Amino acid sequence: MTRKLEIPALDSNDGQTSGMMGSAPIPEGHVIRRFEPLAILAIASEAFPVVKTGGLADVIGSLPKALLSQGVATRTLIPAYPTVLANCRDREIVGRMTLLGEEVTLWASHCNGLELLLLDCPALFDRRGGPYLDDHGRNHHDNWRRFALLSAVGARIAAEGVDGWRPDIVHLHDWQAGLTAAYMKAAGVDIPTVITIHNLAFQGQFPAGVFPELGLPDYFRHVDCLEYYGDISFLKAGIRLSDAITTVSPTYAREILTEERGMGMAGVLQSRRSVLSGIVNGIDEAVWNPVTDPHIPQNYDLESIERRRANRKAVERSFGLTPGDGAILSVISRLTWQKGIDLLAPLVPGIIDRGARLIVIGEGDPGIVYDLAEQARQHSGRVVVHVGFSEEAAHMLHAGSDIVVQPSRFEPCGLTQLYALRYGAIPIVARTGGLAETVIDANEAAATAGVATGFQFQPGSIVDLYHAIDRALTAYDNPGIWRRLQTQAMRTDFGWTRSAERYARLYRQLARSHAGAAFSEG
Ligand code: ADP
Ligand code: GLC
Repeated sequence: MTRKLEIPALDSNDGQTSGMMGSAPIPEGHVIRRFEPLAILAIASEAFPVVKTGGLADVIGSLPKALLSQGVATRTLIPAYPTVLANCRDREIVGRMTLLGEEVTLWASHCNGLELLLLDCPALFDRRGGPYLDDHGRNHHDNWRRFALLSAVGARIAAEGVDGWRPDIVHLHDWQAGLTAAYMKAAGVDIPTVITIHNLAFQGQFPAGVFPELGLPDYFRHVDCLEYYGDISFLKAGIRLSDAITTVSPTYAREILTEERGMGMAGVLQSRRSVLSGIVNGIDEAVWNPVTDPHIPQNYDLESIERRRANRKAVERSFGLTPGDGAILSVISRLTWQKGIDLLAPLVPGIIDRGARLIVIGEGDPGIVYDLAEQARQHSGRVVVHVGFSEEAAHMLHAGSDIVVQPSRFEPCGLTQLYALRYGAIPIVARTGGLAETVIDANEAAATAGVATGFQFQPGSIVDLYHAIDRALTAYDNPGIWRRLQTQAMRTDFGWTRSAERYARLYRQLARSHAGAAFSEG
């Protein structure tokens, strides 16, 4: 089996063909071009800025740009939801196909530094509502079919390429792309695959009755592939069949191997632990930059941090807070149990007693929204709850509030705390997943050493959350301590450079071992 392999020459070792292939001679049919990039097909259900419901979109929209400087060029396949077609008007048709009985048009579009491939299938994606939920907040009834199609189209592109381009590696993101690995195996497509788990809580679990509709050979129904407690799981297919598995922080990679955090998948993950690793997310430093941010009234950096005050005033005005000196705490989050937002409502009276104020923006669980809205009603001018999703408001709150609270029960990585750090808003986070490793708690040792960037507490504990809020408000009352925290926070390295290097290294390892295996198979 031979195929063209394009491997970039970046560091001195990688530039040597002997370094790449060990001492083996270069197999016939392999063309090694030193300066051409490694080609990645990424497959995901959202990508900033064309469609976003959360952090997945941020990662899909920023990682490819960081990978470019690693000699890795990515094309990203996403569904052409109405908002995507509206945002990508400049596009051209690069393919048509019929898969799973659906007619698909494939568009290519260059957008905000991303090379997008848009899967246009109006029957499945031209809908009201969001990528996953309808107008009433219910899952689209045929999500299994919608994302099976995404995966089938991904596998077809892997097999046949598109407008003369072929990927060296296929990178699947979350359950929505998980079946790609199965479709590729079924079609004998021999290209290495990586799956990144952004959140193990979402597993693409559907009744086993849909299996015959997926167009996969019967043996994929087996417990070693899709079968999952009597149902089937698209994520499980990705975990079982991909060549490598990553998740979005090393801590979360360890956590999901335990029964407590493995959400039913611990055993499956343990069976693949030798190929599982954690790579922490970075942020798009062009999009989240207080120096250039177009969404905030006053730009600033560490040296001009006093200008933040104007943003604070703007936040008070636009969110309808009574003006004052008390700290502004903000929450920018899905309002769900995972995010621990239910812990906050009971703490509101204590927060108000300390002279602080609270702004919450988000969408989610009606019970959580109700409890918070009730607090806002009782403490008008001190507590504001904004139900909705607004990119602009998120930027404003990072630039103008003093503290960002992220009380997640579990958090694979979390991006909000990284944005907060960059904007000098001090994060209060639960000690879990990516939050635990990206925020340094202001305990006595860290404070003395001058490395603290925020406050941590025990996940799920209301008492400990209150203690962390109390510690943060005490620090806020001391301008010297607060400025030191802000300084450390804003100096944190939140960029993609190191993590993009790790992804690039993983891609190259996979390409190399695949080339080696193909060679030894003859
Ligand atoms: P998750 O993806 O689990 O929701 P992350 O912290 O990784 O959590 O990413 C959340 C992303 O969604 C961030 O970009 C955050 O700013 C954004 N976000 C969450 N809620 C809102 C909201 N109500 N309005 C605007 N942006 C939001
Ligand atoms: C998921 C996780 C979040 C992570 C994001 C991007 O939505 O919940 O922790 O930051 O994916 O990887």
